[in-house]
Amino acid sequence: MTSATAIANPNIAFIKYWGNRDHDLRIPSTGSISMNLAGLETRTKVVFDSNNAADQLILNGRVARADALERVRVHLNLIRARAGIGLFAQVDSVNNFPTGTGIASSASGFAALTLAACKALGLDLDEPELSRLARRGSGSASRSIPGGFVEWQMGEDDESSYAYSIAPGEHWSLVDTIAVLSTEHKHTGSRQGHIFADSSMLQPARIVSAPERLYICRQAILRRDFDALADVIELDSNMMHAVMMTSNPPLMYWLPATIAVMHAVRQWRKSGIPATYTIDAGPNVHVISPADQAVQVRNKLEAIPGVLQVIVAQVGGPARYLLGDQS
Ligand code: PMV
Repeated sequence: MTSATAIANPNIAFIKYWGNRDHDLRIPSTGSISMNLAGLETRTKVVFDSNNAADQLILNGRVARADALERVRVHLNLIRARAGIGLFAQVDSVNNFPTGTGIASSASGFAALTLAACKALGLDLDEPELSRLARRGSGSASRSIPGGFVEWQMGEDDESSYAYSIAPGEHWSLVDTIAVLSTEHKHTGSRQGHIFADSSMLQPARIVSAPERLYICRQAILRRDFDALADVIELDSNMMHAVMMTSNPPLMYWLPATIAVMHAVRQWRKSGIPATYTIDAGPNVHVISPADQAVQVRNKLEAIPGVLQVIVAQVGGPARYLLGDQS
C-alpha cells in the first residue's frame, strides 16, 4: 500500500480560459491569469493498494457519481502510466467550502489529486510537470498548482502548456469577495462549454485580442495598478460571457441579481471605492478589491437583494502535500 494527501486552493480567473485548441490534451485557445483563493481548499487522500479491485471515489464523505469517478479514473490512468504502476486507488476528497455555491472545485480538486497521486506513486515531478498533468484533468487546475498570482501560458503542445506564478500572494493584498446568488447545480458545465465556444462568431475576436489583455493584466498585477486591473478584468469577463451567450447552444449564466451586482460594483468604483467584478461559468459574482476595502464591500454586497451568502478569500499559496501523511 502506498498513500499521500495533498491540499490545493481554487482560483478565480482575471483573464479567462474558455475554449480549447485541442480538447483531448486541453491546450487552450488563449492564455489565462488567475489568483489563488486562500482559505478555500480541497484536501485529497489517495491510497493505492493491491487489494483494490477498482478505483473508488469518495467526495465530501459520499460515494461520488459515476461521471465524477470516470473523470478521476481517466486522470489516474495518466499518472499510473507515467509511473509504470497499475494499482487501483481509493480517493477521498473533501472541500472545506460549501458545494453548490458555484465556487469551482474542479481546479482545486484536480490539482490536489495530481499532487497526491504523484507523491503516492513516487513520481518526483517539478512544478511545470505537475501543472501540465493537472491541466489534463481540468484546464483551470493547471493554475492551482503554483501559488499567488498565476499565468497559464497557452503553449503549443502538451509540454509547453502549463502555469507558473507571476507574483507571490504577498506581492499584492487583494481579496475576492464572492456574492453567492444561486446554489443550484449549473446546467451546462465548462467541459461542454469549451466545446461550444468555437460556435460563437465572437470567439475569434476574443482569441485574437487576448494577448493584449494578458499583457495589461500582467502589468497591472506587477505594478499593483488597481484601475488598470479593474478595466481589463471586467472587459475580459464580459467578453467571455458574450461568447457564451452567442454560442450554439447559447449559455446564459447570469441571473437578474448578477446584473444588479455588476451595476452596483461599477457605481461603487465611480464613487471612489476600488472594486471590480468577474464572473465564471455561473451566476455568482466575484468582487475583487484591495484587502482594506473587504469589510465595506462585504457589507454592501449583503445589502443587495438576491445575495444569499458572501464568502471572502485572500490570495492563496501553491498546492502542497500534507506532511506526515504518506505511507
Ligand atoms: O477548468 P475548467 O474546464 O473548469 O474551465 C474553467 C472555466 C472558467 O472558470 C469559466 C474560466 C477560468 O479560466 O477559470
